[in-house]
Amino acid sequence: MGADVSQETAAASAGSAESLTVRDNRTGQEYDVPILDGTIRAADLAGIRTADEEPGVAVYDPGFVNTASCRSAITYIDGDKGILEYRGYPIEQLAENSTYLEVAYLLIHGELPTKDQYETWVHEITYHTFVHENIKTFMQGFRYDAHPMGMLLASVGALSTFYPESRNLTDTSIRHMQVVRMIAKMPTLGAWAFRHAQGKPYVYPDNELSYAGNFLAMLFKMSEQKFQADERLIRALEVLFILHADHEQNCSTNAVRSVGSSQVDPYSAVSAGIAALFGPLHGGANEAVLRMLRRIGSADKVPDFIDGVKNGKERLMGFGHRVYKNYDPRARIIKKAADDVFEVTGVNPLLKIALELEKIALEDEYFVKRRLYPNVDFYSGLIYEALGMPVSMFPVLFAIPRTSGWIAQWLEMIDDSEQKIARPRQIYTGERTRDYVAMDRR
Ligand SMILES: CC(C)(COP(=O)(O)OP(=O)(O)OC[C@H]1O[C@@H](n2cnc3c(N)ncnc32)[C@H](O)[C@@H]1OP(=O)(O)O)[C@@H](O)C(=O)NCCC(=O)NCCS
Repeated sequence: MGADVSQETAAASAGSAESLTVRDNRTGQEYDVPILDGTIRAADLAGIRTADEEPGVAVYDPGFVNTASCRSAITYIDGDKGILEYRGYPIEQLAENSTYLEVAYLLIHGELPTKDQYETWVHEITYHTFVHENIKTFMQGFRYDAHPMGMLLASVGALSTFYPESRNLTDTSIRHMQVVRMIAKMPTLGAWAFRHAQGKPYVYPDNELSYAGNFLAMLFKMSEQKFQADERLIRALEVLFILHADHEQNCSTNAVRSVGSSQVDPYSAVSAGIAALFGPLHGGANEAVLRMLRRIGSADKVPDFIDGVKNGKERLMGFGHRVYKNYDPRARIIKKAADDVFEVTGVNPLLKIALELEKIALEDEYFVKRRLYPNVDFYSGLIYEALGMPVSMFPVLFAIPRTSGWIAQWLEMIDDSEQKIARPRQIYTGERTRDYVAMDRR
C-alpha cells in the first residue's frame, strides 16, 4: 500500500485526485505524491528515505530548468504558441493601445486603472522623478569611464540609505511610496549614468514631459530651453518599455525574489535584479547581435555566415529562446517599432543584413527543425543604436522598464504566505572530517 508523503499537501490536493506513485527501489516502498497544478512539492520527496536517520530524497535542478519557485498571477507565457500576457492581457494589445505607466500599474495592481486612478498614478510617478542631490554627488564620484549599469545598480542600492523607512515591509502606504519612487527615479539615474560617461552635465527631470519623453530629454538635452523629442521616437521607446516590463521568473526577477525573501528593503532587492541583468547571458544578447551583424558586414555574406552556423562554428545571435519555441511575440512588435524609429533617424545600415538573415533562417531546415525564431533581442539593439545609445546603455534601457515587473513580483512575494527565505539544498561533494594540519607540515 502507498504511504502518503505529506498530510499537508494531501489536504491541499483533496480537490484533485491526481497523484504520482513513486516506488523506491532501494526499499520497495511506494509513495503517493499529490500533483497540484501540474507540479509535485519537492518537500514531499523528503519523506522518501531508506532509514529514519538517513536524509530524504531531494531534487537536483541547477538553473531551475524544471522547478517552479512560486505561484504567480502576473505574467503568462506559452512558449510553444508564442503567447505573452500581462495579467491576462495579450502583449500585442498592450503594445498597441497602452502606455508604459499604465502597464506598470496593471502589473503592480493586477487591473487596468480607471481614468482617475491612472491620472493619480501618473502624477505620483511624475512628481517623484527627482533624486536627492547627494545621489548626484555620489554618481559624480564614479570614474569617467564607469559602466552605466554599474552606476545604476550602485545608485539604486544607495537609495535605500535615503529612505530607511523602506525597511518597513508591512505598512502598505510605506511600501506604495517605495514603488512610486523606484519607477519614477529609474530613468533619472539611468540618464545620469549615460551623461556621466559623456562628461556632460546631468539634466534634471522635466515634469511637463511624459515618462519616455522625459527620459529622452534627460539623455539628450543640451542648451535648449525645452527639449521635445520626436513623438514617433517617444512612442517607440514607450513600446519597447512595455515589451520589457516583465517576463515571469527570469534570472533577474528570480534574483529580486531571492534577495527580497530575506525581507531586505526593495531598493536592495531591485539592485540585485540590476546586477543579474548586467550579465551577458541575460541583458547582453542584443549587443552580441550588433557585433555579429557588423562582423557579417554586408547582406551578400549572409549565406556563408548561415553555413558557418549550421556547421556549428557559431550561433545566430538573437535567434532561439529557452522558453519560446515559436516566434517571440515581442520580436514581431519590435520590428514594427524599428520601422517607426528608422523613419526618424534614417535606416541603420545593419538592418539590411538583419532582414536577410531572418529571411534565410526562417526558411532553412536547420532553424525550422530546431524551432529557432527571432527573439526580442534580434531587433532591439538596432533601435537603441539608432536612438544614439552606446551598447553599454543597452542593459540600462532594459532595467528601467523591468523595474515595474521586479516590483510587482516583489510585492506578490511579500504577500505570499507560502514563501520562505530562499535557501536551496546542495549535494556536498567535498572532503569530510579532516584534522587540521599545522602550516609547517603541509
Ligand atoms: C537562447 C538560447 C541560449 C536558448 O538555448 P536552449 O534553450 O538551451 O537551446 P539549446 O542550446 O539546447 O539549443 C537547441 C538546439 O538548437 C541549436 N541552437 C539554439 N540556438 C541557436 C542559435 N541561436 N543559432 C544556431 N543554433 C542554435 C543548438 O545548437 C541545438 O542544436 P542541436 O540540437 O543540434 O545540438 C539559445 O537559443 C541561444 O544561444 N541563442 C542565441 C543567443 C540569444 O539570442 N540570446 C537571447 C535570448 S532572449
